[in-house]
Amino acid sequence: MGPPISRNLHRTTKKAPSKGPSKPPKAKAPVAAAEIAPSSTLPIDLLQLLLNVFKNSFPDRLSSDIKPLLQEVKGHLYNRDFATAFGKEEYLEAYALRWSPSRALCYLQIFEDLKDELNPFHSVSEETEDAEWDVVCLGGGAGAEIVTLGGLMKLLEPVNEEHGAEANITAIDIADWSNVVTRLRDGVVNKPLLSKYASAAAQEANKALTDPACFSVAFHQHDILNTPLDILSKLVGKADLVTLLFTLNELYTTSLSLTQKFLLSLTTSLSAGALLLVVDSPGSYSTVSLNGTEKKYPMQWLLDHTLLDTGSKAQDSPKWEKIKEEESKWFRLPDTLRYPIELENMRYQLHLYRRCG
Ligand SMILES: C[S@@+](CC[C@H](N)C(=O)[O-])C[C@H]1O[C@@H](n2cnc3c(N)ncnc32)[C@H](O)[C@@H]1O
Repeated sequence: MGPPISRNLHRTTKKAPSKGPSKPPKAKAPVAAAEIAPSSTLPIDLLQLLLNVFKNSFPDRLSSDIKPLLQEVKGHLYNRDFATAFGKEEYLEAYALRWSPSRALCYLQIFEDLKDELNPFHSVSEETEDAEWDVVCLGGGAGAEIVTLGGLMKLLEPVNEEHGAEANITAIDIADWSNVVTRLRDGVVNKPLLSKYASAAAQEANKALTDPACFSVAFHQHDILNTPLDILSKLVGKADLVTLLFTLNELYTTSLSLTQKFLLSLTTSLSAGALLLVVDSPGSYSTVSLNGTEKKYPMQWLLDHTLLDTGSKAQDSPKWEKIKEEESKWFRLPDTLRYPIELENMRYQLHLYRRCG
């Protein structure tokens, strides 16, 4: 038996009907930021180390004027022209420098908040007897998740050292983020370069977030909406945790039917006990055309409908249970952090599911 359902679970979505979406639930008024924005509970030094990984991984991009590049990328993202926005190395680096750092810090707070549910490193490798954690990050090419997991290794270091913990990360993305992934992975497992004038004490204290022997990262370029089941199963089959961070709504917007099909393939590919973490902007809606009329459905309602459907057709299919839900939560960055580009507080919705046996 897995951990009990979180007490914080406050289901706000209506129960989905068993036959296709019909009535979209009403939108709720957004909650004022000040009401719900606690400060990060993570050590500031660790947050700064994560930011430094981004800063140190793309020195050439930072030494040139990055503003015009960011404007171009923003324009393409605004026009939903993702092929162009993620089609050039310099755009990818600029994106990773501008948008991934705030997310990496926010995700570390989320992983810390969910540590009882995620229970990392609870499975033990038969060959090495080390505690392993296999994490697959779908839409994870821009590297936020990789740096977060590096930070988590640091956070868990005192416990992990006893158990020889190993994190195996697979990032899958439609765009070719291989260079960004390699640089950020290197930034996680190598000591930052210090100035030759750094004091002996600073040199002594200078450490990598984690050891390369216990942090493996693989990148695969795939359109997950069009990846055949056998390939998807090979990529995700061993996963303890699959993440879809700020990616699911993009998938729904691309194609509702392909996204539903993909979620069912993911369900088939994963083993009992595997977790699925979905984080996205609160209030994300997808427009669905049904019988010639268009209706808007909240992302989490569509997701619950696909994963938790108890209709007769779904009787024999594998099921999920929801173990945590946050409709809208803030992550506020501490003011003392230093980074050469603007960082942003983040608001998100969160859904954590566990694959039943
Ligand atoms: C908004 S970004 C989020 C990136 C990252 N997960 C984060 O939270 O910072 C969405 C990512 O999903 C990827 N993506 C979009 N559609 C995809 C698809 N069909 N298959 C795989 N990746 C996709 C994009 O290339 C992009 O890297």
